[in-house]
Amino acid sequence: MDKRTIVAMPGDGIGKVVLDETIRVLAAAGFEADYVEGDIGWEFWRAEGNPLPQRTIDLLAKHKIALFGAITSKPKDEAFDELAPELKEKGLVYSSPIVGLRQHFKLDICARPCKTYVGNPLNFIRRAADGGVEEPEVDAVIFRQNTEGLYGGVEWTDPEQQVYDAFMTHPKFKKNFGDVPKDEVSISTRIFSKNATERILRAAFEHAKEYNYPSVTLCEKPNVIRETSGMMYKMALKMQADEYPNIDLWNTNIDAQMMWLTKNPENYGVIVAGNMFGDIISDGFAGLIGGLGFACSAQMSSDGIAVFEPTHGSAPKYADYDTSIVNPIAMVESACMMLDYIDEKEISAKIRKAVAEVINEGETRTYDMMKMTGKPDVVAKGAASTQDMADAIIAKL
Ligand code: NAI
Ligand code: MG
Repeated sequence: MDKRTIVAMPGDGIGKVVLDETIRVLAAAGFEADYVEGDIGWEFWRAEGNPLPQRTIDLLAKHKIALFGAITSKPKDEAFDELAPELKEKGLVYSSPIVGLRQHFKLDICARPCKTYVGNPLNFIRRAADGGVEEPEVDAVIFRQNTEGLYGGVEWTDPEQQVYDAFMTHPKFKKNFGDVPKDEVSISTRIFSKNATERILRAAFEHAKEYNYPSVTLCEKPNVIRETSGMMYKMALKMQADEYPNIDLWNTNIDAQMMWLTKNPENYGVIVAGNMFGDIISDGFAGLIGGLGFACSAQMSSDGIAVFEPTHGSAPKYADYDTSIVNPIAMVESACMMLDYIDEKEISAKIRKAVAEVINEGETRTYDMMKMTGKPDVVAKGAASTQDMADAIIAKL
């Protein structure tokens, strides 16, 4: 087979080191690829006034598959201050290149697996009835609609008159907000489209089918958010009945689900939700299995473009340490998702097994796994560096 070309987008801060170490792991596992570097992040905002240059979009359009580290975003005023002097008069406004990628390529499906590693000291434990402790084995995959809903960006403060007038035609708006001055009203909408809802539901059911999960849990709030959550629930019921009769459909409310996260997280497998609730549940589950050092994700479009990235950010305060201390496992696991996606499942299984062995043996642990504060001296105190962790995984391969 021809060698694949992967767009490697390191971004900022620790994004670079976790991506470099992950590419080393991929090579050691026998994955042959050419990597082309995609420019993205703060550096390109400062120098060019665009954190997502067109050349990066073109690269991804051409090669379709990308590994992405993390980027730095800063508030509006700082973004302006750091812009190159010759760009300051151009009226440029910073916007997140991740959101930009999502919107440009319609990466509407986000998958975030959260699986307990045996022996990870960061695993969630719970008090048992007999006073002992239980360590629930979590194996959940959250499918989050990635482009719509509350993060769709359709919002106003002091809306234009015609928008305000349109809202006033809704009896509930008129009754509850009709006497609030227009300039004291802020509105953020939650819009779901049938097509995107159908796609995220199908992705969840297909995943359950392929990996033998007995159920799909729709986690929304259809009893209160009757239109959007309600539509999603109705569509899920129909899809399950018509196409996936062997997979159970569970329906949970987001608030109750957060409580069940600590009560019985092991009961949940594939979970599907809209944009904000999916964001919340996936962070909740990530906390149960070790947090940001272990949280991986995939973002996929309908036409085969996919970006694989850890959930964590660029952790700028750690980026300048002489020896990098951050945990590369979230990035390595994201790369395994990429391998699954491009049907290199033998290699991903090999890497996951190596990671599991390293964690279970417990000899190589990054500072987070040792529950240390991330100071530069953690390596001197016995924590593994980013590179040590990658070396340990490679040794197992
Ligand atoms: P962050 O995820 O970068 O860091 C938060 C804390 O989590 C760190 O201080 C560290 O204690 C821990 N952490 C993160 N990654 C880790 C790893 N691999 N191993 C061990 N510990 C790890 O989030 P923060 O500090 O809120 O944001 C920093 C920058 O990253 C900001 O500019 C923010 O906008 C950006 N960001 C980018 C994201 C992305 O690229 N997808 C996502 C989240 C934040
Ligand atoms: Mg989040």
